[in-house]
Amino acid sequence: MFQSLKPLPPDPILGLSVAFNQDTNPNKVDLGIGVYKDEDGNTPVMKAVKQAEETILNSQSTKAYLGPMGSPDYNDAVAKLILGESLNRSLGERRVTIQTPGGCGGLRIAAEFISKANTNSTIWVSDPTWANHKPLIGSAGLKFNSYPYYDYTTNSVNFEGMVDALKETSDGDVVLLHGCCHNPSGADLSPEQWQTIKATALAQGFTVFIDLAYQGMGSGLEADVYGVRLLAESLPELLVVSSCSKNFGLYRERTGAITLICETANASANASTLLASAARSNYSMPPDHGAAIVQLILNSPTLYSIWEEELTGIRDRINLLRSNFSAKLNESGIQRNFDFIKNEKGMFSFLGANTDQIQKLINDYGIYIVNSSRINVASINNTNVEYLVDSMKAVLSN
Ligand code: LMR
Repeated sequence: MFQSLKPLPPDPILGLSVAFNQDTNPNKVDLGIGVYKDEDGNTPVMKAVKQAEETILNSQSTKAYLGPMGSPDYNDAVAKLILGESLNRSLGERRVTIQTPGGCGGLRIAAEFISKANTNSTIWVSDPTWANHKPLIGSAGLKFNSYPYYDYTTNSVNFEGMVDALKETSDGDVVLLHGCCHNPSGADLSPEQWQTIKATALAQGFTVFIDLAYQGMGSGLEADVYGVRLLAESLPELLVVSSCSKNFGLYRERTGAITLICETANASANASTLLASAARSNYSMPPDHGAAIVQLILNSPTLYSIWEEELTGIRDRINLLRSNFSAKLNESGIQRNFDFIKNEKGMFSFLGANTDQIQKLINDYGIYIVNSSRINVASINNTNVEYLVDSMKAVLSN
């Protein structure tokens, strides 16, 4: 039965890491997968995470099952991080949160949940969006449409095009937004634009679904959830999938959550049974280790301040890398303006290279970037930056 299977093409992001590891070029640089790297090119375990792990190792007395919704304390702590104490309190039992295996597990369960709520729902995704959104969400059987998002000529959000498209939504449709640090473009909505999204959602009646994978990596823990909190307090319903991969550096621990806000506490209670059932029929229960770490950090003032300080350092460094890199590209003589890299947020920006140029960067220079021309700014350092700029000059000038 398995004899006739043909291999699938490599994953557009993960496949790059495999190719990078096999490359023998001593100057190679991996600007592909979205992982933060420090000045030495390492992705260290955060200090607060290490301390929390020690505490867990010394104090954990059981590894008995926790159930499909995971740890209630983790769920409450994550909801407070996303929504803030007072909004979380005022939403009360209209809000339900479940622990998931990473943001990806959350996206998949949320998609199944949406298809149970409305089998005819169309999910509107940004054009462009993260390469794994459609595979993850589409595998639950949902249909897609897209709204224009990034204008490659102005290197900014095509907000007029976005809102015009959202006015074409039908009742029961779901609009997927990136909470902050848009992946792949790095171009975020301004507070005024979030206000317009809120008004459009209220007028059109679509349900907003937010992918929040980078809270704290763009402008700050609070500023990055401006849109999430605005919509959570103003819309009758909201779905947020959050991830602790980047802001806690817990990538491989697969730590995420779905936070759902319904119109009434009763609807939330009903909905939580569907979320739990979707988890049960997929993986039964989420893994515990990462969530136990996050729960401890968020509930301990000492660990929280250690974590917040380190996260601030990471964010500040990424923003500094952005301004240095854009300045160096601007000075390099490439006939383009790269200021947008300085102004965008999070790990990613588009370099603005075409397919041939991307292949040249990979094959001739060992510079690995995603085929959409997405680069991970958080992989740049003082050692590789000159090589990157020189190589990009050689390739982009032709
Ligand atoms: C990325 O976009 O590179 C990351 O979110 C990692 C992944 O799973 O694709």
